[in-house]
Amino acid sequence: MPNKIWRVVDLLDWTAQYFEQHAIPNPRLDAEVLLGHLLGKSRLQLYLDFEMPVFQEHLTPFRELIKKRIDRTPVSYLTNEKEFMSLAFYVDERVLIPRPETEQLVETILTTRTDSPQRLLELGTGSGVIATILAVHQPEWDITATDLSEDALAVAQKNADTHTGATQIKFLSGDLFEPIKATAPNGETQFDWIVCNPPYVKKTEWETLSPDVRDYEPEIALFAGDDGLAVIRRLIAEAPEYLAASGKLILEISDTQADTVRTLISAEPAYDSCELIKDYAEKERIVLASVP
Ligand SMILES: C[S@@+](CC[C@H](N)C(=O)[O-])C[C@H]1O[C@@H](n2cnc3c(N)ncnc32)[C@H](O)[C@@H]1O
Repeated sequence: MPNKIWRVVDLLDWTAQYFEQHAIPNPRLDAEVLLGHLLGKSRLQLYLDFEMPVFQEHLTPFRELIKKRIDRTPVSYLTNEKEFMSLAFYVDERVLIPRPETEQLVETILTTRTDSPQRLLELGTGSGVIATILAVHQPEWDITATDLSEDALAVAQKNADTHTGATQIKFLSGDLFEPIKATAPNGETQFDWIVCNPPYVKKTEWETLSPDVRDYEPEIALFAGDDGLAVIRRLIAEAPEYLAASGKLILEISDTQADTVRTLISAEPAYDSCELIKDYAEKERIVLASVP
């Protein structure tokens, strides 16, 4: 970045072009989000302050951010923020960056009519976005959220503390249903909802992932064995034991897994219905299975 007096507009133009030369997807947007983050301004404010000079105290850290983005660090890890259903969540490299597709999983739960407060279990909560948004919208619900990663749980707790009453969500650590089994060994704990956005990428797809994902997001949040179904298979088999009468299992899946997941659920006699829900791109990404 040459030495001169830089205005906001010059910095954005220069950075967007530099990102483009380095094949960074969304170069202009990334430039705006990173500069806005550093100056404490929204993207709209940046446009209103286009002529404002930017001095060395901000230029030096901005250069650092540009370098990290060229190394393909995701923007959300650089700003430590990701918006999910209109709320800002803290994220860092301990957790998967929440994806817009997951909003539909939450919306499906919120739009399913229920007469009484629901007991809901989220497995693999990561940054805690699903459990936290549900707690914000349904303060009467009894919500438990788990993760195998203690690091992820620390982030989830931080987000829950920011957006909900500190104790509204009960966080437990462990492998899938293990922490539930540990607190209620005789299967007395049952849920109306079991929710999970599980890891579902095939190990063999590692090379095909974008470097932003492959080199920065936690492996434990992405990969599930050679066919990507290792966790989904266990969820389908084990969930009925923890579902109350008329309880529902709802999962996010990849856009190539719908047929296999439908077959797995049909083969499990505990379920009496299975619905595949399409995302905004018309791909079957949400599976909703119920027990009688
Ligand atoms: C795809 S991420 C989902 C994170 C978050 N719920 C979301 O939707 O953005 C999957 C999460 O499951 C957790 N996980 C992976 N295997 C697990 C297991 N066997 N038991 C519990 N959690 C697991 C990972 O640590 C990760 O946080």
